Amino acid sequence: MNEAESTAWKALEALPKRRLSELFADAGRVDALTAVLDLPGGPVRFDWSKTHLDAGLLSGFTALAEACDFDGRRAALFSGERINVTEDRAVQHTAQRGVGSEEAVDEAGALHARMRSLVEAIHGGLLGDVKHLIHIGIGGSALGPALAIDALTRDGAMCDVHVVSNIDGCALEAAFARCDPATTLVAVASKTFTTIETMTNAASALAWLGENGVADPYGRVIALTASPDKAVEWGVDETRVLPFSESVGGRYSLWSSIGFPVALALGWDEFASLLDGAAEMDRHFLTMDGAENLPLRAAFSDLMYTRLRGCQTRAVFAYDERLRLFPSYLQQLEMESNGKRVRADGSPVDGPTAPITWGGVGTDAQHAVFQLLHQGTVITPIDFIAAIQPGDALDPAHHRTLLTNCFAQGAALMAGRESDDPARAYPGDRPSATILCDEINAATLGALIAFHEHRTFAAGVLMGINSFDQFGVELGKEIARSIDAGGASFDASTTALLAAAGLG
Ligand code: F6P
Repeated sequence: MNEAESTAWKALEALPKRRLSELFADAGRVDALTAVLDLPGGPVRFDWSKTHLDAGLLSGFTALAEACDFDGRRAALFSGERINVTEDRAVQHTAQRGVGSEEAVDEAGALHARMRSLVEAIHGGLLGDVKHLIHIGIGGSALGPALAIDALTRDGAMCDVHVVSNIDGCALEAAFARCDPATTLVAVASKTFTTIETMTNAASALAWLGENGVADPYGRVIALTASPDKAVEWGVDETRVLPFSESVGGRYSLWSSIGFPVALALGWDEFASLLDGAAEMDRHFLTMDGAENLPLRAAFSDLMYTRLRGCQTRAVFAYDERLRLFPSYLQQLEMESNGKRVRADGSPVDGPTAPITWGGVGTDAQHAVFQLLHQGTVITPIDFIAAIQPGDALDPAHHRTLLTNCFAQGAALMAGRESDDPARAYPGDRPSATILCDEINAATLGALIAFHEHRTFAAGVLMGINSFDQFGVELGKEIARSIDAGGASFDASTTALLAAAGLG
């Protein structure tokens, strides 16, 4: 940490820790900490007033951002500098949305044109009657497509898509049970085209097609990858390989050809709307300064809770069934990006890094985990996400109750309630932020995801972390390979487990 950063942190630590009730004595607080962005999918309201941010903290964190050269790091991201220093790569997911260096934007545009041709050819019947797509991928090659398809195909889809990630054959079998092999395509989505889960599932899907009367199973496969040579070597015809750039990280790849199943299910225009919504958020993030920059403001709040108030987790509750997969999407985005213990230069970090991201869907979660949030001994900052327009056509009572409960939770957590009976007392002063969309559509979803990508990047900059590598996942993979290879020796517990499962 440089001297200016250390000075900024000391100043932040010296600030008083005020209660929310005290902060709300300021009549201008809600306006000061709420912003409505007019986005392509409709307005979205970002209300951070029920967090403990105040003017002192905002200016303290703004000073920290300056000390960390936030503006310079942001410019480096968008200009295509090799900011992923440990892997010596640029980070160009925003270019997929049309915001970035000219060269990267042009390359992404050309690859999108290729993807669009294939999507439209399939819709036009060039690959025969296609009713189902089994999309096989894991982590960033699955979570984005699964979220977008689950959120946006409630009113029907041009293709029935099943996202399969787990190596557990039960997952693939469940997809087989719902698809007719004669009208099924298989998308193999893997940046590296080496991931064991994906390649094993892909081989089994090919076998299933072959065993069920499909004469040329490889002819039914589309590869989505940054390693096109490996896909061709594996047997996919070059015309059905949709490449994307190495500089697009796995957990940031929904915008690339990894989004193929989304385009196939929704049509190209909707996929383009997803990109447009994200691009508008990119422009906001690129141009707004200091705490007016909403992803940066959210990162200030995140660091306030982890580093100044000792919170080890943060929870996200989508009060919208269509966004039920959003928390698991964010888990990979935030925990794989910022769950680090060294800074980009290899030196140890100076405090806690990413909190554990968890969450669920409202109102279900209220009846399961909210007890701890209201009365437990740990403080968990919460994000609520909701939409004003309902996604359903039932009695408006459904949506009304959904929204009133969402807002009631934020109010109750903050206000608390005194009682002579300790079991019935609520301490209050529990923070939350609310993101209130006008409606959930492709553009809004794109903007929501991009908001969180930039929030994660901004938090990484403020902690001095490289948010774009993920070496922490490698050791376990390596050990699994050495078990498979045989001959390796392990600790007594692992040896006994392997023997018990007949694998020793
Ligand atoms: O193991 C972690 C990871 O590398 C993620 O970062 C990535 O999204 C996932 O595996 C899948 O990787 P691939 O797309 O190369 O199959």
